Amino acid sequence: MCGIVGAVAARPVAEILLEGLRRLEYRGYDSAGMALIDGKDIHRLRRAGKVSALADALSTEPLRGHTGIAHTRWATHGKPNEVNAHPHMSGEQLAVVHNGIIENYEPIKVQLIEQGYVFTSETDTEVVAHLLDQAIQSGMSLKQAVQNTVSQLEGAFALGVIHKDFPDLLVAARKGSPLVIGVGMGEYFIASDQLALLPVTDRFMFLEDGDIALLTQDQVEVMDKSGQDVQRSISVYEHGISAVDKGEFKHFMLKEIYEQPDVMAQVLEGRIASGHVLEQAFGVDAKRVFDQVKQVQIVACGTSYHAGMVAKYWFEELIGLPCMVEVASEFRYRSVVIREGTLLITLSQSGETADTLAALRDVKSQILASLSICNVPGSSLVRESDLCLMTNAGPEIGVASTKAFTSQLVALLLTCLVIGRRHGLSSEQEKQIVTDLQNLPTLTRAILDLDEPVKAMAEAFAEKHHALFLGRGALYPIALEGALKLKEISYIHAEGYPAGELKHGPLALVDKDMPVVTVAPNNEMLDKLKANLQEVRARGGELFVFAGCEQTLKSEEGMQVIALPACSKLMEPIVYTLPLQLLSYHVAVLKGTDVDQPRNLAKSVTVE
Ligand code: AGP
Repeated sequence: MCGIVGAVAARPVAEILLEGLRRLEYRGYDSAGMALIDGKDIHRLRRAGKVSALADALSTEPLRGHTGIAHTRWATHGKPNEVNAHPHMSGEQLAVVHNGIIENYEPIKVQLIEQGYVFTSETDTEVVAHLLDQAIQSGMSLKQAVQNTVSQLEGAFALGVIHKDFPDLLVAARKGSPLVIGVGMGEYFIASDQLALLPVTDRFMFLEDGDIALLTQDQVEVMDKSGQDVQRSISVYEHGISAVDKGEFKHFMLKEIYEQPDVMAQVLEGRIASGHVLEQAFGVDAKRVFDQVKQVQIVACGTSYHAGMVAKYWFEELIGLPCMVEVASEFRYRSVVIREGTLLITLSQSGETADTLAALRDVKSQILASLSICNVPGSSLVRESDLCLMTNAGPEIGVASTKAFTSQLVALLLTCLVIGRRHGLSSEQEKQIVTDLQNLPTLTRAILDLDEPVKAMAEAFAEKHHALFLGRGALYPIALEGALKLKEISYIHAEGYPAGELKHGPLALVDKDMPVVTVAPNNEMLDKLKANLQEVRARGGELFVFAGCEQTLKSEEGMQVIALPACSKLMEPIVYTLPLQLLSYHVAVLKGTDVDQPRNLAKSVTVE
């Protein structure tokens, strides 16, 4: 999604803004631009395509100045071209960058055109620039103009504004889209996320919804949605700066796949004592809430939704607690029946996914409490939830979610254990599961050692156009996740199915050109699954099986088998995810796609 960077400093800021944009590239975008106040004028440069195209342009037409804004645009209204790229200006006076969607831009645009404003782009953002200009022309200060403009806008947005008559001022506003303030020494910054600003500061102030901030070199003034001056606390970024470098890896995705053994340990760190999960890790109110939980409703999107689907098996099989799971974009728009004692669990890597946030806000008054399982401290979801469990996976840059998913699974199992104590889970059972979790770093390292055979397997996919992924039980969501990974980074059409559904439709697709990937651990569903594999073989389908090592499945004509180390049933969804991640990664590399920033996708989906 769109990325914003802004700066007001004593030093020139063009390089800082450009580096900030590079660090926001992972969010997904299709054009980039920058505007700086140079003396009494605003100079702007925009380019369609990558930030590198903007960097090339800046090397021949440098922008100078101490106050500026920059942007990566992910097209929503209007084509991804230079004309629609941000910043947008009203005349030569002021420039605006925007993340989000202005839902009522059309009637505002009609009014502004009637008043003589000329629009140069197809974007919703341009109305913001002209509304600001109109307010300033009527005698308002920049602060009043921003307040006045924001009060007329419906939708979700984060804004950065500069005006040529106020060369030392940068104004920021947020409602529904993320925006942080970076606090430097005699300089301030704004950005869509902290990663953009790590080269210049590790101290951040998180704006609340409805806040407007006025930043100069020496101070930041924040007003809340009612216009009252407020103080927002400053927190220090906890992960090292190296967390956002690729290091020795060719892609962030590969680095993040390989980080998973350490991430498994990080999710557990500080959460386990004497073989038991510490419920205080979920927040001060955790005991009171968990004592009253009668059912769980999980809401999430994409990969996070798949993690929720796995958790349903755990909550219902392990502790007998009803658990419903739904994608947030559906949940938020239907009349849901919320039963008494419902704990709403939102799952999100970014904590800023618009649909997930909206779902939380919609049912807040009807639920017992909300728990957010999230990877980004200070994100909207974390701040707006009653309880939270951070997944501590460190920044995830690759658009394809990998370590965030497996860390969510571990966090969900921890949640299941603390709630499970109230629902018949014995202390011994809990200790055994905790031991299994503590063995995950070793186990997942052994899985990563299988990279070479998985890479060899990937070659069979490079020329294919479709693939099926099969699994049963808690491995069915893993099949869905495997298919999502393959389609998003290699652009091969892939679908996940519960293996038992094969003969109810998808079997019609199976022939020699349809590779069928199956996750087949050595559990009580194996015999059923083998029967499904026979159905595929009989139709000439080519099988690629990830199997438990102690079983009878072996490679033969038409079936490649990679055996995985043995693990307990509860660990299977976590363990079997890794080879599927590696498979999709290697297929994408063979196909030469943009692994970390696949086409049309964004990392943080802050608009619905
Ligand atoms: C996964 O690989 C995706 N890119 C996507 O499905 C993602 O999981 C989804 O957009 C939800 O994001 P969140 O976890 O940040 O809420």
